[in-house]
Amino acid sequence: MTNEFYDPGSERVAKVNRLFTRIARRYDLLNDIQSFGLHRLWKRRVVEMTRANPGTHALDVCCGTGDIAFALSHRGAGTVGLDFNQSMLQVAEHRKSTSLFAPTQGRESETPVFLLGDAQQLPFAENRFDIVTVGYGLRNLRHWQGGLREMARVARPAGRLLVLDFGKPDNPIWRAIYFGYLRLFVPLLGLAFCGSASAYAYILESLRHYPAQNGVADEMRRLGLKNVQIHNLLGGVMSINYGEKQ
Ligand SMILES: C[S@@+](CC[C@H](N)C(=O)[O-])C[C@H]1O[C@@H](n2cnc3c(N)ncnc32)[C@H](O)[C@@H]1O
Repeated sequence: MTNEFYDPGSERVAKVNRLFTRIARRYDLLNDIQSFGLHRLWKRRVVEMTRANPGTHALDVCCGTGDIAFALSHRGAGTVGLDFNQSMLQVAEHRKSTSLFAPTQGRESETPVFLLGDAQQLPFAENRFDIVTVGYGLRNLRHWQGGLREMARVARPAGRLLVLDFGKPDNPIWRAIYFGYLRLFVPLLGLAFCGSASAYAYILESLRHYPAQNGVADEMRRLGLKNVQIHNLLGGVMSINYGEKQ
């Protein structure tokens, strides 16, 4: 069965963009429901691993509504959040004015700058950022390896790259249970809250075509990153890939 939003070919970019326009307004709510709030912990873990602090420069690619970008800037990093979907960025901009993320007076650098742009062609010179993160983004790119290469290009020597995404557990029973959850329950949530089951069936479809934690680690090594690590969460259901530019 083909998915309305998944296309391995030239339509991929347009379809993914359409998908996020469709779900932008409900995206945060659905994240909380489908992960039982756990995505907040996983993102917090990513941000801790960045070791962001005042004086560091961070880029969050495929930033969506800004969870990781806000958390990075909360730790004092000058942060840019980049995404190619205007609707997701509108939600991110709106969140700047909510009390939790309201800019601290006189400390402008603690508010992320949100930028419309393509993860596959980052609009930055090389060696620019101490930290480059991506959460649930690489899997959506037409060429995820190209996206990772771009992240490495704009990172400074010794800069940290972190990739958070759905994983593929090694344990076959656990993997079957989790894929069943993505196949049956998550699309129902999409239908109930966004009026589209296929928008959320897309997660499993895109994951099938993505090599997840092991493939990303291999590619990090191929790109010459050092100290490459895989941090599995919930038995590999989610994972964080970590690497440092030489
Ligand atoms: C699943 S959301 C993740 C949002 C956020 N990082 C989070 O963890 O909640 C994926 C995001 O990737 C963005 N995206 C997909 N392809 C992109 C591309 N080629 N360039 C920039 N952003 C892209 C989408 O617009 C969407 O906001």
